[in-house]
Amino acid sequence: MAEEAILEYLHQNDEIADSGQFATQSRISHDDIVNVIKSLRAFSFVDAQDIKRDSLVLTDEARTYAAAGSPEVQLFNAIPPEGITLKELENKVGTQTFKIGRQYVLKNKWAEMGKSEVTRKVATVDDEVKKMLMRIQEGEVLNAEDVASLKKRKLVASQTWKGYSVKKGPKYARERRKPATDLTREHLQRDDWKNLEFKEYNFKAKGFPIEGGHLHPLLKVRRQMQMIFLQMGFEEMPTNNYVESSFWNFDALFQPQQHPARDSHDTFFLKEPSTTKILPEDYVARVKQVHESGGYGSRGYGYDWKREEADKNLLRTHTTAVSSRMLYALAQKPFTGQRYYSIDRVFRNEAVDRTHLAEFHQIEGLICDRGLTLGDLQGVLQDFFSRLGMSKLRFKPAYNPYTEPSMEIFGYHEGFKKWVEIGNSGMFRPEMLLPMGLPEDVRVIAWGLSLERPTMILYGIDNIRDLFGHKVDLSLIKSNPICRIGIQ
Ligand code: PHE
Repeated sequence: MAEEAILEYLHQNDEIADSGQFATQSRISHDDIVNVIKSLRAFSFVDAQDIKRDSLVLTDEARTYAAAGSPEVQLFNAIPPEGITLKELENKVGTQTFKIGRQYVLKNKWAEMGKSEVTRKVATVDDEVKKMLMRIQEGEVLNAEDVASLKKRKLVASQTWKGYSVKKGPKYARERRKPATDLTREHLQRDDWKNLEFKEYNFKAKGFPIEGGHLHPLLKVRRQMQMIFLQMGFEEMPTNNYVESSFWNFDALFQPQQHPARDSHDTFFLKEPSTTKILPEDYVARVKQVHESGGYGSRGYGYDWKREEADKNLLRTHTTAVSSRMLYALAQKPFTGQRYYSIDRVFRNEAVDRTHLAEFHQIEGLICDRGLTLGDLQGVLQDFFSRLGMSKLRFKPAYNPYTEPSMEIFGYHEGFKKWVEIGNSGMFRPEMLLPMGLPEDVRVIAWGLSLERPTMILYGIDNIRDLFGHKVDLSLIKSNPICRIGIQ
């Protein structure tokens, strides 16, 4: 309706001088007129110039007076010709109207108010305030004095009014026909398709983004890590058991039962099933013995080893639990050297913060063979981390219950220009390997690192919670690039 009105008006007149007046004249809301002007202007049907002026708007309070009358007139009308008590009058009109109306009734000398009685002094009154408010609503301009009085009563406020003056534009037509976007069955049935104006193809329009799955950065980095291990001749260990017994997770690794990591503050123990049923009994006996009194050249820890502790089920705290199972299995057959790796999830009862979660992923590699030395470990770490793009390594003596010697691995990060801790490593202790039944000259070199840390470095993520867990940043998962390890 607004569109026809504007185009028709411009057909007969040179211009719409003021969209506000035009809206009042044609009884169309100014908002509608403005929307149509903007759309017509966008298609060059019209030229439009901005107009701005100060205008008045009614406050919420004033809008109720414009409808129901000013409080003073409401109050006056509630006074019967024979008079009324103040209390009754207040009850009739309500406290609010009574309080405000009373001031102006007295000021205008419309009524006389005694201590308790009210009587009219005039027979009728005119509601000038209501009239002024209605005129403002209609868009009329009031004289300065009236405006000042209404402003003083906070019934009106100034506002910048925005509108347009409008002339025909270069593409003006008396009627805007919507070009068709599709040739439909109805067009063919009505046979009006020959007269249709079709919308032109927009070859530059961008299509809808294609929906599809997205690989999580951890999966991308895991794949790259896997490739490196495979290229180095490693075989993947079966890590498909999150639930593990304390025996394989700790005892088999010569980790004493009083070790703080075995506390429920650090490890999640299972309530149901709380214990494991099957362990290789003869091996368990050898593990008990090596903890209690040693053997194989060791003095052991000298404490009373308890089977109940070993039976407790837990969520594995490291993938080294799987390594211990694999090495034990290997010891049951004629010995052959092996290179094993795994990348999978582990769990720790940790306070969650920017860099720690209660579950994360470990990357672990191990080589077992006769006569391996610490030099072999350093060499294989050099090879492995060079393939990750870190060829400057440093080692720091460390401690693990199951390795001796143990080394923390630091790598020089060319981007950060500093040494960063990148992993942990060592040679498994004889107290771990010999009870399994491995030949005496077999040595196992191993290392471990988290998958999250290199992923965060590679993808520039500084809060682990954006990467993994229930607060994961889905837009980051959708938009992250492919992983290019080793290229810096
Ligand atoms: N299991 C160790 C950890 O959780 C990593 C490690 C693996 C250390 C193998 C030495 C040898 O940190």
